Amino acid sequence: MKEAKKLNITKSLELFKEACGLVPGGVLGARKPGDFIEGEYPVFLETGKGCRLTDVDGNEFVDFLCGYGPIILGYREEEVDEAVCRQIKEKGFCFTLTQKFQNVLAKKLTKLVPCSELSIFLKTGSDATTASIRIARAYTGKIKVMRCGYHGWHDWCVEMKGGIPSKFYEDVFEFPYNRIDKLEELMASHGKETAAIIMTPFGHPNHEEMQEPKPGFLQGVRELADKYGAVLVFDEIRTAFRLRMGGAQELYGVTPDLTVLGKAIANGYPISVVTGKRDIMSTAGSKLFISSTFFPNSEGFVAALKTIEILERDKVLENIWEKGERFIGKIRALIEKYDVGARLTGVAPMFFITFDKDETGAYKQKRTAFYTQLIRKGFFFTPYHHAYISFRHTEADLKSTLNAIEESLAYVREKL
Ligand SMILES: Cc1ncc(COP(=O)(O)O)c(C=O)c1O
Repeated sequence: MKEAKKLNITKSLELFKEACGLVPGGVLGARKPGDFIEGEYPVFLETGKGCRLTDVDGNEFVDFLCGYGPIILGYREEEVDEAVCRQIKEKGFCFTLTQKFQNVLAKKLTKLVPCSELSIFLKTGSDATTASIRIARAYTGKIKVMRCGYHGWHDWCVEMKGGIPSKFYEDVFEFPYNRIDKLEELMASHGKETAAIIMTPFGHPNHEEMQEPKPGFLQGVRELADKYGAVLVFDEIRTAFRLRMGGAQELYGVTPDLTVLGKAIANGYPISVVTGKRDIMSTAGSKLFISSTFFPNSEGFVAALKTIEILERDKVLENIWEKGERFIGKIRALIEKYDVGARLTGVAPMFFITFDKDETGAYKQKRTAFYTQLIRKGFFFTPYHHAYISFRHTEADLKSTLNAIEESLAYVREKL
């Protein structure tokens, strides 16, 4: 199998070199070259349209990261962008007081999201998860938090603890997904002081294989929260408006007390939500101060309302599940055929190709080789984060992706 030609990423690397003198680390967080394969992936992008990205060197990619999750329709989705531009040009979006959209969106969420009765609107997922914990602590008068999954960059939950006094996270305990026994143990020790259990209802731990809930797992968590009087928060930042409109809670039929939404709700525009049961959410209106200059800006609300309208009108999630099921089924068949220790986990709208760990660490070379071939061929997946499918991935895009996956697996089998 011929090795794909290395991409020319000269301009990306020049910009990155310059950036390193201007921004600590050049770029922040999950956009760092080290989160991809250094020297193979571009660092700076120029444009996006539909499911395609073009980098600053002119390389074009069929993208499966979808902006790390918010792009559910496609890049530069005209109807959404036009609705936002109209709002900005004809009425304005940043004012001294709130615009009416908050009521419209809050009402809509009560129809779509099983636990939604009252909502507050913020900008990022980290804003929302952090606000949900503050609400739960204020409501219960308790302090401890059980958590499972990635919840953002704030002090109480970020993995890298640099710059954070331990008192900010010493009351936060982590449990692994699908391990009700571990949560039971934690609650047996700390249940009486536990304000919240916050978890991703679908298992998508960082860098790891994805997991659907085992039978009874989510119900078991619900029962433990009830038994100890803790607020159950589902972190649906990735899963709402993607697995189902109402998120994994709709798909799996377990309703939390609160839930946090973001990413796909507005196809890339900044807005996040904490929504949930009236009595708990009411705390946010009385005992707490949750406010930011930009929280009421209407571009995110307008984008969310238009995105939701399109998702419903065009049955977008049905489309993604339908084509995605076929697509991941074919990837699974290729993985079986080439038998190089690869594995596909997840479900049609969000899935991950990983390589089974071995003692020698050979899986890392296979992983690097596989993803290097894909990016060189113009398919933007990453070795450390699962993929997403958007509405604008066409059958032809998925077919060409399958060809590239097949060639990359064949390459790994031949060379390693
Ligand atoms: C499940 C989950 N919760 C919270 C967050 C934090 O969201 P944000 O990056 O918008 O702050 C993320 C971001 O990836 C996420 O995936």
